[in-house]
Amino acid sequence: MQKLKHLFQPIRVGPMEVKNRIVMSAMDPGFGIEEDGSVTPQLTGFLVERARSRPGMIVSGAMPVHPTGTADPATVRMVHLWEDHVLPSLEQMVKAVHQYDVKFGAQLNHGGLAHIPEEAIAASDVPEMNAVGLKTRAATKEELKEFVAAFADGAEKSVRVGFDFLEIHGGHGYLINTFLTPRYNRRTDEYGGSFDNRIRFLLEVVRAVRERVGDGIPIGVRLNGDDFIGQGSWALPEVCRLAPILEKESVDYLSITAGAASMGTLHYTIMPMYEEQGVFARFSQEVKKHVSIPVIIVGRIKSPVVADRIIAEGKADLTVMSRAQIADPEMVEKARRGEIDEIRPCLAECLGCIEGILRYGEASCAVNARVGREYLLPEIEGEKAAAPRKVLVAGAGVAGLEAARRAAFAGHRVLVCESRGWVGGQLKLASIIPRRAEIADILPWYERQLNELGVQVRLNVTVDESLLDEIKPDVLIVATGSLPEVPLGFVEGLGNIKDIELMTADELLEEQKLTGDSVLVVGGDQIGLQVADYLSEQGKTVYVVERGGHFARKMASADRRYLVGRLIEKGVRRHKNVQKVEIVGTDEVWMITGNDRDRLPDIETIVFASDRRPNIFLAEVAERKGIETHIVGDAAGVAAEGQGTIMAAITAGYDAGRQV
Ligand SMILES: Cc1cc2nc3c(=O)[nH]c(=O)nc-3n(C[C@H](O)[C@H](O)[C@H](O)COP(=O)(O)O)c2cc1C
Ligand code: SF4
Repeated sequence: MQKLKHLFQPIRVGPMEVKNRIVMSAMDPGFGIEEDGSVTPQLTGFLVERARSRPGMIVSGAMPVHPTGTADPATVRMVHLWEDHVLPSLEQMVKAVHQYDVKFGAQLNHGGLAHIPEEAIAASDVPEMNAVGLKTRAATKEELKEFVAAFADGAEKSVRVGFDFLEIHGGHGYLINTFLTPRYNRRTDEYGGSFDNRIRFLLEVVRAVRERVGDGIPIGVRLNGDDFIGQGSWALPEVCRLAPILEKESVDYLSITAGAASMGTLHYTIMPMYEEQGVFARFSQEVKKHVSIPVIIVGRIKSPVVADRIIAEGKADLTVMSRAQIADPEMVEKARRGEIDEIRPCLAECLGCIEGILRYGEASCAVNARVGREYLLPEIEGEKAAAPRKVLVAGAGVAGLEAARRAAFAGHRVLVCESRGWVGGQLKLASIIPRRAEIADILPWYERQLNELGVQVRLNVTVDESLLDEIKPDVLIVATGSLPEVPLGFVEGLGNIKDIELMTADELLEEQKLTGDSVLVVGGDQIGLQVADYLSEQGKTVYVVERGGHFARKMASADRRYLVGRLIEKGVRRHKNVQKVEIVGTDEVWMITGNDRDRLPDIETIVFASDRRPNIFLAEVAERKGIETHIVGDAAGVAAEGQGTIMAAITAGYDAGRQV
């Protein structure tokens, strides 16, 4: 039990009393919105599951106030706040959230550059985007008037449907942000050039909204503390200059964020594990020196202890903990009770949440398979099974652990057997990679959950036919993972090897094997690149060869960006579209790409980090014996898109555990 003294102190935000310092900032998960822009029970279910835990403030996902400011519906759906037919569904959503004691705000936005397909509107034409084939154009002055009025209309409608407060989105590269940012605002009229001109559009929006809703409704503004685009970026000194002006304009809070997808800096908006928790508290700390209204800070804060410290040190008044609440909707309640170890940690690999939106238009979560399905599975963890069954889980990687947890929760008697002497499987190995230790945070959580649920875990026990005969499970869950393979068709001439040492990535990491100084890593997906980082950190000269045209396809783009940055910094040579690796003569390693043949000099070790084969021998045995069998995780497949990831493993484990 750890009492958090500061996080659960109430605070006034304008006329509104907020019960604690935790904010679930705006997150449009992409799901739960009809084609016509109205809200469905799916989105409401997502919000209600988190409202139950009572964060101080929840902000709706960004709601475009004008049809030119919505995202491409083929990419991600958004609420059409400019259309009245969405209001009844919004009202229902707000009512549902208000069953719980939280303040629920509406985020008002014009997406600007995010409205990509036909013609994206910004402060001015953006040549960088035009250069990559996107059409952008400057908003006309008439349009600006129309947009200001649309913000006021959106505000009025939001208040009408019951939202407690309003948040104007001035960050993340959306329309208002493009006015603030010198590089994106090349206007020569009264909206461009000087600081006073660049903030004009935002001030007009703020005034119009305030005038429309009156003094009783708190209005906040979300602003980038830095766009992180280098020359011409909107950055902290100007934020500090703008902050007191907004306070004078009767803005009730500031929410400081950073980066923008449309500016190529999404990895600062939704940061992966490579950045420290709370790294942007340095922004809010500065902004706070210039205003007396509350300042909210964001930045990968997943630990309530870190959040509490930020508040205690006076660096911010409220802390955004958004993905932390995707990962564990009960996070706030557990923090309130001081049960920090009970919180299921966000792994900050971004693969489910933001990458889900980028790839499929819908968010999910690597560790919480319920995301987006809350409305279908009404209780937090489902109902107890009428007839408990004896469940044997073979393998204690995350797929097996999740299957065991979920099945035990339903009341089944669960035994987990793991052939190794430790739990965690591939995830544990992946946590050895530099700066990725955090992904193993989920393992103590699982061990604790399984312990509380009375699940037995036997280590160093391999499930085989005789054990099946002895235990006689009603259900077998095969979570035996995958085995590394040498890609013989890709690497030829292994017979010519004399002194080069060969090993798999598993052997390298699990046995902490030593390599020579010059290493070839075969495979450039997530395992290969992470192994390259591990080896280059030890000062090795590393080459990576990849058959495909992309590196680390299985990683989220934000996460990959940091990893690749590290490899570039350390001089790792990455080669893609490689057709073949040949070992000729004695220990001569050649790489064939198109018509080119290049020698990779003095390779001393080759690490195989590409192909893996599902380990399903046990499933075949069990099926022969007529045992109900579920195959989960890597054992069910590892190569295709959506397989071979932590998220795929946990989701499959959850579903198998639920279906038992
Ligand atoms: C799935 C998803 C959707 C998001 N949608 C929005 C949005 O609509 N408006 C916004 O201002 N920020 C949006 N964000 C950014 C979050 O509000 C928050 O700033 C970000 O997740 C970083 O906070 P965290 O590290 O606590 O998760 C989104 C983030 C995620 C993961
Ligand atoms: S997908 Fe990953 S980063 Fe996103 S909320 Fe879930 S655990 Fe956190």
